[in-house]
Amino acid sequence: MEVIIQGDASAAARLVALIIEKQVKLNPYSVLGLATGRTMEMVYEMLVNGHHTKGTDFSLVRTFNLDEYVGLSADDANSYRSYMNRRLFGKINIDMRNTFIPNGMAADLPAECLRYERQIRHVGGIDMQLLGIGQDGHIGFNEPLSALRSVTRVKALTPDTIRQNGPLFGHPDMVPRRAITMGVGTILETSRCLMLVTGMGKAEILQKAIEGPISSMVTASALQLHPHCTVICDEAAAANLDGKDYYRWIFMNEPEWEDYRKL
Ligand code: F6R
Repeated sequence: MEVIIQGDASAAARLVALIIEKQVKLNPYSVLGLATGRTMEMVYEMLVNGHHTKGTDFSLVRTFNLDEYVGLSADDANSYRSYMNRRLFGKINIDMRNTFIPNGMAADLPAECLRYERQIRHVGGIDMQLLGIGQDGHIGFNEPLSALRSVTRVKALTPDTIRQNGPLFGHPDMVPRRAITMGVGTILETSRCLMLVTGMGKAEILQKAIEGPISSMVTASALQLHPHCTVICDEAAAANLDGKDYYRWIFMNEPEWEDYRKL
C-alpha cells in the first residue's frame, strides 16, 4: 500500500483524476471500477473537464460500479445509476452499453449478484478500482463483519451508514435498508486500487484502515492485502496517521511519482 498526502481535497481529487486519465490513455480498453458518494463528485467533475479540454477518450472504456441500492430504479434520482449518468456518463463519450451497475430492482437478487460477478470476470477483471471509505470503514457497501473473501451480494446497511447517507434522501427513513455490493474479495481481485479519502471526518477511520490490524470490522483494512493499492488523501484526513513522514518521503523520492510531483 502507498499513501499520498495532498494539501487539500481538490488537489487529492485532481491526482486521482490524473491517474485515471493516464490509465485510459495507456489502455483505451481499460475496465474501470467506479464508486459514488460525495468524495467522488470532484473527481468526476475533473474527468468531465479533462474530456472537454484534453480530449480524454472514454469511447472504448468499460466501467463497473461498486454498488447500488436495492429497490431503487435507474431513473430514481437517488440511485447510483442516476448519480453516475448525471455526474459522469452523460457528460463524456462513453458508450452507455459499456457502463455496468448492479440492478437493484432485479426480481432475483442473488442471481443478479452472481451475474454481475460473472460479468466482471467475463471482461477479464477490473484494471483500476476507485474507492471511497465510509465512516465505519466500509468500501463499497461492505459493512463491518463482511467476509474478507466475499463476492458481490446483498448487504444490509448499518444504522450509521443510513444516517450518513440520510441527507441525500432528505431523511434517514427514506434510505433503502439494503444494497447490492461487490465483495471485499471482488475488490481484492482488481489489478489496482485507488482509494480517495478527504476531510477531517475521515481521519480516525483512515488511520485504522491503513495502520491498524486487518479486520472485517474495518473492511477497508483488507486493502493492506492488495498488491497495488494507492491511498490518496488530503492533510485533514491524514491528521491521525503515524507514518506521515515516511509516506511523504516515498512520494518525493519514488520515480513512479515524478510526473505528479511537478503539479
Ligand atoms: C459508494 C461507495 C461507498 C462510499 C463511502 C464514502 O459507491 O462505494 O463506499 O465511497 O460511503 O462516501 P462519501 O464519499 O459520501 O463519504
